[in-house]
Amino acid sequence: MNILVIGSGGREHALAWKIAQSPHLKKLYAAPGNPGTQNLGENVDIDPSDVPALLEFAVKKKIDLTVVGPELPLTLGITDEFEKQELKIFGPRKNAAELEGSKVFAKEFMFRHKIPTGKFKIADSPEKAKPIIDAEEFGFPVVLKADGLAAGKGVIVCKDKQEAYDAVNTIMVEKKFKDAGKRIVIEEFLTGEEVSFIVVTDGVQILPFVTTMDHKALLEGDKGPNTGGMGAISPSPFINKDLFSEVMKEIVFSTIARMLEEGRKYKGVLYVGLMLTEEGPKVLEYNCRFGDPETQPQMLRLESDIVDIFLAALEGRLVEDSIQWNRKASGCVVLTSGGYPEKYEKGKKISGLEEFEQGSDVAIFHAGTKFEKDTYLTNGGRVLNVCASENTLAETMGKIYKAVNKINFEDMYYRKDIGVMKKEE
Ligand code: AMP
Ligand code: GLY
Repeated sequence: MNILVIGSGGREHALAWKIAQSPHLKKLYAAPGNPGTQNLGENVDIDPSDVPALLEFAVKKKIDLTVVGPELPLTLGITDEFEKQELKIFGPRKNAAELEGSKVFAKEFMFRHKIPTGKFKIADSPEKAKPIIDAEEFGFPVVLKADGLAAGKGVIVCKDKQEAYDAVNTIMVEKKFKDAGKRIVIEEFLTGEEVSFIVVTDGVQILPFVTTMDHKALLEGDKGPNTGGMGAISPSPFINKDLFSEVMKEIVFSTIARMLEEGRKYKGVLYVGLMLTEEGPKVLEYNCRFGDPETQPQMLRLESDIVDIFLAALEGRLVEDSIQWNRKASGCVVLTSGGYPEKYEKGKKISGLEEFEQGSDVAIFHAGTKFEKDTYLTNGGRVLNVCASENTLAETMGKIYKAVNKINFEDMYYRKDIGVMKKEE
């Protein structure tokens, strides 16, 4: 098969790495890809948001299967467009991707169907938001969310009234996140451990992936601002069998079944961001795609052919338990450019990668890198993902950090406590 992966992050490199092991594969393309995917196939310079160009490419190159990494093309309706041309594409249609594309839709959907989530109110103007904030119904801190994709930045945790007014201003008046500022979700702040619950579904049957969690905060001890993810591990130490069943039944099955009933059949990956609160698991967010960096440790544990899973989901023949995982503990540490998630410089020379290119038991997935004149250079905030999978989490993290010590670029920053569960006070 000719397979196209859309996206350019560590998630896409990990998916491409797994796809490259499939006997189904004839030729692999990535759009736009990164130096990691280039080593596995051919990168094509098309932006993930350019749906017409991706479609044209897929028709021309006779792509048999397209796998979409990021959310943007899904919310733009890439699946609908590919399906019109009878092209196989893995990812939900536009009306199902609304679960991620609109926070208002997702919250109202959960409310309608009694899927556990934080209490909330919705406002469609700053004038309507103010009395909700003034009523202090949810206490403080309170969480304000722009209603749409905002590159992971549209969620603002406000510790008092003034911060909440300021957030309304940023989102709705200054329109920092553009149209996502038309409506706002004002939501109760939830506390607990956060886990990423990821499944693949054909719209009816559901295949849960191994549990995982990422470390979102920039600084050690889970302090500082949220990022896209500074590292991840699998399994998650916070999900036992009972909790797993509860989440599947109360949250995942209801979501997929109710979407079907609402005429929004959900086919693809569903990533449910959960807060494990004292009252039980509650949904923080839905994502219509794989996690980044959660995918990286998950792919290291997947024994089955991922292309078989994609095809089964697309053809409506997924069978629960039809997927094999190894029982190892895997992990991923993200190496970032100093200054991320705010301003950072690019173009720094990366050293130390050669030793991991062949026959290493450490997997290095590229994210924000580029390859120029025989040299890898930094080209983004999250630069590289250093991953491994061993019998215990301690061995895994030991191996990863040993590898991290051999890699270097100017202003490189990473968390030294990925896989450490105890929070510092
Ligand atoms: P979202 O895009 O809605 O998942 O929000 C991004 C991140 O903000 C989540 O992964 C949480 O870490 C945090 N967050 C979102 N909603 C809440 C909430 N109601 N309470 C506490 N933290 C939240
Ligand atoms: N690691 C968080 C996400 O993929 O949304």
